[in-house]
Amino acid sequence: MVTPVDLEVAAQIRRRGPLRFDEVMERALYDPVDGFFGGGSGAGRRADFLTSPEVGPLFAAVIARALDGWWAELGRPDPFTVIEVAAGSGSLAQGVLAAEPECLGALTYVLVERSAALRDQQRSRLPVADATLAFPPGAEDVDGPSTEGGLGPRVVSLGEMPTLPVTGVVLANELLDNLVFRLLERGPDDSWLEVRVGLTGDDLPFTELTVPADEADTRLADRLAPEAPEGARLPIQRAAADWLVRALAVVERGRVVVLDYGTDTADLAARPPGEWIRTYREHRRGGPPLDALGSQDLTVEVALDQLSVVRPPGVHRSQAEFLAAHGIDELVAEGRRAWQERAHVGDLEAIRARSRVGEAEALTDPAGLGAFHVLEWRIP
Ligand SMILES: C[S@@+](CC[C@H](N)C(=O)[O-])C[C@H]1O[C@@H](n2cnc3c(N)ncnc32)[C@H](O)[C@@H]1O
Repeated sequence: MVTPVDLEVAAQIRRRGPLRFDEVMERALYDPVDGFFGGGSGAGRRADFLTSPEVGPLFAAVIARALDGWWAELGRPDPFTVIEVAAGSGSLAQGVLAAEPECLGALTYVLVERSAALRDQQRSRLPVADATLAFPPGAEDVDGPSTEGGLGPRVVSLGEMPTLPVTGVVLANELLDNLVFRLLERGPDDSWLEVRVGLTGDDLPFTELTVPADEADTRLADRLAPEAPEGARLPIQRAAADWLVRALAVVERGRVVVLDYGTDTADLAARPPGEWIRTYREHRRGGPPLDALGSQDLTVEVALDQLSVVRPPGVHRSQAEFLAAHGIDELVAEGRRAWQERAHVGDLEAIRARSRVGEAEALTDPAGLGAFHVLEWRIP
């Protein structure tokens, strides 16, 4: 299958020569019409892959408890701004609001999603207000403790992260693995080469070729994977590091919380790239990364040490540990009790209560979502 993005990338290569891997990935995922996310694909039970918020409402219920904890720690500010980046179609936001956290009256929930098609889907399931409501003039002046029954929740949706400093939390679940990266390969005599995407002759299929890597990438690769043998590959995830810089700048008081799968650069260099560059289509692993661009999700294990170069996280634990720390076991026990009380009725509430047990197993599975990393940076 030849896709519209294949044709566009091929045309670009003819004009400009072989492209960097991040340039190709940018078009494959984010072309506003034909890109995988640009076209509106994404996470969900009926979609291409399943993320923690899509497993069921339990994940959002735990996040709601975490938000209450962080809100209390900050002295119950109003507004308390939660910026969820990579909000997709709005599942997590919907679950957090449905869980009715204590901070609800003070809450400004900002969904940040790059794909306009997915932002449209958010509007069909959430009471999204005009974006100016999130940052009313003088909002920064009323950053005092919440009075009883504040004006929240205010829900707004943006295409990119705001820049106005907030008191609150920037939260990103499975964002960084979808940000574009460059691909480096260890060359002879401890050199580093950059992998580029070219054409076969002047036509498809795409082919890979290498050129000398630039100085900054070479320095980073040497620092993080000095032992990599000739032929080893690794990703340079500058977009992820740049995103972290911006997220840290937007929080005046509070924290940045990132949930994702990842490891460190040296580990990636020691493994075949086919293991850490993954593609998904309709809940199955997809084809090779350069196959049918735009028709499949393209993700990479996050090189966590490249984030630490920006600033080491204050807390780094597994998703299973994070969820336990924020009360997943209590929510499951509550679900079990509710099921026992309502099993004879067998209504939706009873079934929801029972499903918490299965959801918790999936979310804390040490061979799956439970092994995801949760990184937290506290500010100041
Ligand atoms: C794997 S999905 C995760 C969706 C959701 N967080 C979840 O866990 O189900 C990644 C999402 O990040 C979005 N995205 C990518 N880059 C972004 C950016 N710079 N700002 C906001 N959203 C972005 C994509 O469009 C996509 O919807």
